[in-house]
Amino acid sequence: MPDRPRIFMMTHMHEDGMRLLHQAGEVVMASSLERETLLREVAGADAIVTRTYGTIDATLLDAAGPGLKVVGRHGVGVDHVDVPAATERGILVVSTPGANKEAVAEHVFAFMIGLSKHFPLQMKALAEGRFMDRTQQMGRDIKGKTIGIIGFGNVGRVVGKIAHAAFGMRVLYNDIVPIPAEAEVAAHATRVDFETALREADYVTLHVPLDASTRGMIDRRALSLMKPDAILINTCRGPVVDEQAVAEALDAGRLWGYGADVFAQEPPPADHPLIGRLDVMLTPHSAAQTVESLVNMATWVAEDVARVLRGEPPLRPYNDPAAVAAHRERRLGTGR
Ligand SMILES: NC(=O)c1ccc[n+]([C@@H]2O[C@H](COP(=O)([O-])OP(=O)(O)OC[C@H]3O[C@@H](n4cnc5c(N)ncnc54)[C@H](O)[C@@H]3O)[C@@H](O)[C@H]2O)c1
Repeated sequence: MPDRPRIFMMTHMHEDGMRLLHQAGEVVMASSLERETLLREVAGADAIVTRTYGTIDATLLDAAGPGLKVVGRHGVGVDHVDVPAATERGILVVSTPGANKEAVAEHVFAFMIGLSKHFPLQMKALAEGRFMDRTQQMGRDIKGKTIGIIGFGNVGRVVGKIAHAAFGMRVLYNDIVPIPAEAEVAAHATRVDFETALREADYVTLHVPLDASTRGMIDRRALSLMKPDAILINTCRGPVVDEQAVAEALDAGRLWGYGADVFAQEPPPADHPLIGRLDVMLTPHSAAQTVESLVNMATWVAEDVARVLRGEPPLRPYNDPAAVAAHRERRLGTGR
């Protein structure tokens, strides 16, 4: 009987997905995400499954050896995977687009509501026995305000729909690819250029992948275009925003508040300029940590890893399967 495929897991995931992986092969759990450990333990893997941390670069792919067929990304955003290096080696990359879109979109509104109503400030005053401070800071309603959505993909579209349906907001968006008309209609969304979105929005929310076009996208200049009472929300990737510039804008009264689930460096340093501020709401990259998202991400990635290991096409490839197959054929000379 042939050996069962070896599936190298960088971190644990929901049991519904683990069950599928155990059926698909021999699951080996990394003993830590420390680089040397990963390089040593990945040897002989037919599949790697990764969540948010642990860089998968050319060295790690090579350390796995020639049997590696697929890298499964539990979640969305493959910025820690060197996808071109995988393609060149004939390795498929699969991910779980849309698996957490509702969770992340709801997280955005938690920040929008909490910052609009000064939750951090009010909760602190209450906890410190200053109940009557309740009238010291005026909050505001979201109803009828303008939202600017940067990146109108899976999450951005759900944010747009909720913004329109629940809050009667004017919905503006910016994207670099054509968006299907039905997605615009569903959110009553209007496409605008990046600067118009920044200038006109009371709430700017970021839903772009981290890449060369988005790194540092919200810098001093971008912040200077925004309304002085705008609220900025970042649930995509920390390096998309210049955090120091955000702290300066808040200090200068050029921004109402900042809500973020992600940081330029994760975990953030203890002296991070935004942690502990009362005009900021921060969560530890936990927007997708809901039961529904975790089940989706785990089962979808496991399903695709299992398919690839059985020789079937994946349902959610991130790199082009035809290009991967061509590279694999050339590399292994198998003619398969
Ligand atoms: N906090 C979390 O746990 C969490 C969860 C899910 C996703 N994310 C992050 O959020 C990002 C968005 O998620 P998604 O599911 O909506 O992804 P998606 O791929 O469905 O949508 C991303 C959209 O951004 C657009 N885009 C790319 N570059 C752009 C640019 N320079 N300017 C404007 N638009 C641009 C794309 O065309 C696409 O429509 C992911 O890439 C991921 O990094 C974070």
